[in-house]
Amino acid sequence: MTDDDAPARGAAEALTPGTRDRFHIPSAPDGSPAIYLAGQSLGLQPRTAAAAIATELDAWARQGVDSWFDPERPWFTLDTSLRASMARIVGALPNEVALLNSLTVNIHLLLASFFQPEGRRRRILADGPLFPSDRHALTSHLAQRGLDPATDLVVIGPREGEHLVRTEDLETAIAVRADDLALVFLSGVNFATGQALEIERLTAAGRDAGAVVGWDLAHAAGNIELALHDWDIDFAAWCTYKYLNGGPGSVGSIFVHERHARDASLPRLGGWWGLDPDVRFDPEGPFVPADGAAGWATSTTSIIALAPVAASLAIFDEVGMPAIRARSVTLTGHLEACLADVPIEVITPRDPAARGAQISLRHDDAEALLARLAARGVVADYRAPDLIRVAPIPLYTTVDEIERFVAILRETLAASAEAGS
Ligand SMILES: Cc1ncc(COP(=O)(O)O)c(C=O)c1O
Repeated sequence: MTDDDAPARGAAEALTPGTRDRFHIPSAPDGSPAIYLAGQSLGLQPRTAAAAIATELDAWARQGVDSWFDPERPWFTLDTSLRASMARIVGALPNEVALLNSLTVNIHLLLASFFQPEGRRRRILADGPLFPSDRHALTSHLAQRGLDPATDLVVIGPREGEHLVRTEDLETAIAVRADDLALVFLSGVNFATGQALEIERLTAAGRDAGAVVGWDLAHAAGNIELALHDWDIDFAAWCTYKYLNGGPGSVGSIFVHERHARDASLPRLGGWWGLDPDVRFDPEGPFVPADGAAGWATSTTSIIALAPVAASLAIFDEVGMPAIRARSVTLTGHLEACLADVPIEVITPRDPAARGAQISLRHDDAEALLARLAARGVVADYRAPDLIRVAPIPLYTTVDEIERFVAILRETLAASAEAGS
């Protein structure tokens, strides 16, 4: 920390939205509050989550099945009551968003509709490094349609010797395959590097090439500002357990652009939850999906899993994405500035517009380094083979925690260097 960092620190403190005490902060090995920098993996528990779950358990205990049709707060449509809040977070119309299932399941449901290979136009292009679950999902859809994942899944990653994928490389790769691509499927913020892709620009490139464009926004939703409707993307899916603090395995969410809302020609994997509530029980009725993203729902919403999501979305509604993102930019910038003279490689983009809250650090002995940091009360995570991911979360990380983390990192690296010499 130098005098030059003082303005950044002041700005970050001034932007503190006062929401840290709304979350449970895990404990370090010595019983003090941990320095929790793993919200990009699992967001912290809102203090209101337990009461929200207890409310549903109580409704279950008191009314049993009648809670589905409680006149005040029917479980039957509880998921729809959260759409407007989620839509504000991702820049969508409420009807373009639904809360259902979990992320990979939702990717499958959306691929069943939006991956429609035809003749030569059969390939999928994705950015690398590609999250394993996405690779399995894409591969299985190719294989199911009798295609060859070895040639029909094109992954464009960083160039040899580089860590980040270049936007122009993705654009060129899309343009040269303009006759071959059925689908462009990209990640909004890369899980490993923390790089935020230019969603609007790449969506336009994919659509110009005649492809459908979908996004995995697991690391983007609640992290960076999004305008999914205006950016004209076709579809997206994300989880709610990272930046959205909805709890482990919490209910996922999807976006489907309104231009697809009533498209009866799209194949769908049907289920009764995809119908309007008033015709779900029709024993003979056809599968006529509900308008909008809700038409991709298939089965009963998990009311208990939805409760902490609702608790967290209330905090997002209160603070709003612009304020959250503004604080995030300052906090992450402060972390980057503090790391400037620490002997470890930062691979995340330096440009605040090209990253969210996550900084990925590269170190040859990253796993052992993480264990030493954990012993000193730092919660971060490791991604093989050589990355440590740290995320200052604007809703609960403090400037003081960032500075203590960097001091611990510096001391730990110095001690390891001494032990090795
Ligand atoms: C980028 C990305 N995609 C997909 C997934 C898979 O999510 P889920 O296990 O909820 O299906 C994750 C999980 O961390 C992820 O980070």
